[in-house]
Amino acid sequence: MDATRIAVVGAGVVGMSTAMSIASVVPRCSVTVISDKFTPNTTSDVAAGILIPQAYPDTPVHTVKRWFRETFDHLSAIARSADAVDAGVHLVSGWQIFRSMPSEEVPFWADVVLGFRKMTETELKRFPQHVFGHAFTTLKCETSAYLPWLERRVRGTGNLLLTRRIEDLWELQPSFDIVVNCSGLGSQQLAGDSLVSPVRGQVLQVQAPWLKHFIRDVSGLTYIYPGASYVTLGGTKQKGDWNLSPDAEISRGIFSRCCMLEPSLRRAYAIKEKVGLRPSRLGVCLQKEIVSRGGQRLFVVHNYGHGSGGISVHWGSAMEATRLVNECIQDLRASATTSKL
Ligand SMILES: Cc1cc2nc3c(=O)[nH]c(=O)nc-3n(C[C@H](O)[C@H](O)[C@H](O)COP(=O)(O)OP(=O)(O)OC[C@H]3O[C@@H](n4cnc5c(N)ncnc54)[C@H](O)[C@@H]3O)c2cc1C
Ligand SMILES: *[C@@H]1O[C@H](CO)[C@@H](O)[C@H](O)[C@H]1NC(C)=O
Ligand SMILES: *[C@@H]1O[C@H](CO)[C@@H](O)[C@H](O)[C@H]1NC(C)=O
Repeated sequence: MDATRIAVVGAGVVGMSTAMSIASVVPRCSVTVISDKFTPNTTSDVAAGILIPQAYPDTPVHTVKRWFRETFDHLSAIARSADAVDAGVHLVSGWQIFRSMPSEEVPFWADVVLGFRKMTETELKRFPQHVFGHAFTTLKCETSAYLPWLERRVRGTGNLLLTRRIEDLWELQPSFDIVVNCSGLGSQQLAGDSLVSPVRGQVLQVQAPWLKHFIRDVSGLTYIYPGASYVTLGGTKQKGDWNLSPDAEISRGIFSRCCMLEPSLRRAYAIKEKVGLRPSRLGVCLQKEIVSRGGQRLFVVHNYGHGSGGISVHWGSAMEATRLVNECIQDLRASATTSKL
């Protein structure tokens, strides 16, 4: 049998990691990533990239936790390798703080991150408006480095990257056996999935190299995430807002909220404004589908709708999509044998 021709639509963190996972696990296949935007122009490029997963109403918590654990383990291995700098992945410690007691004192992901504990009274004294907090160590995956690194690895194994907008997945039917749909928010238009919608996020990327510790005010949606090449200050969650232009008023608000938590930020410099639209959905869409038209068929594996936690679960999600691709290949082989009989 010829090599299986696989197209991955989308070049955000979900598409690129899925392409890399397929290329390294699936035997005898060629992978082509097709996307209208590549790094640095995807939503994934705007993400702060802190590994803290979100809960999805329609995806079981144990599934999200498994994806998170797989992602955490995978990136931890990169963080302790010589690739850490090129991949932009490193450990970061800090606090998440609350103005009133959270409904769940211990989040579902507490035993995946490292050294999770309640903050002490002394630590909390720094934040007079907050009554409770957690201290832990997690990973930061700086997508401005991670996405180019993934791209080099995908290219390096002989796979293709094409810049192209897809209006309908069926366009790919004559040239590919399997299409993996990692189009994020693009799925609304592409697959007619009205369940996926934008949640706008605006952040600032600033130079403040003296900051080493993250602070996440869960009650106020304010965060300070130090990374290798900049500190990300946030944020906003604006449902249904498609505006990709930064709003100066919002930037001033973010900056002053962050300075209240961390006054040294007044000295931050080289401030850049960034906007991204999170592909929000009640549950992540991760499933296979056989599309048939006029007696022809196309195997499709969907992997989109990761909302505000896509970086945190991308590798687990890519591994699951890869398993589904393998199932499609079994089905293809079975039908190829049947048609020969
Ligand atoms: C401000 C902000 C901060 C965030 N911080 C974090 C964080 O700290 N931790 C975390 O885990 N998550 C965070 N997120 C969420 C994270 O960014 C997303 O969950 C993740 O980027 C989704 O990845 P994706 O690959 O599905 O989507 P995208 O990055 O949007 O990629 C989709 C790709 O599909 C392509 N595409 C779409 N439609 C088509 C089409 N019709 N034809 C061809 N190509 C198409 C696009 O060009 C793009 O390449 C943050 C998001 C924002 C906005
Ligand atoms: C990103 O967008 C800018 C501005 O639209 C464009 O000039 C650049 O070529 C894009 N980069 C890639 C890799 O597509
Ligand atoms: C991805 O799948 C969804 C749901 O089937 C669909 O609406 C969307 O158009 C698909 N994306 C692409 C690029 O075809």
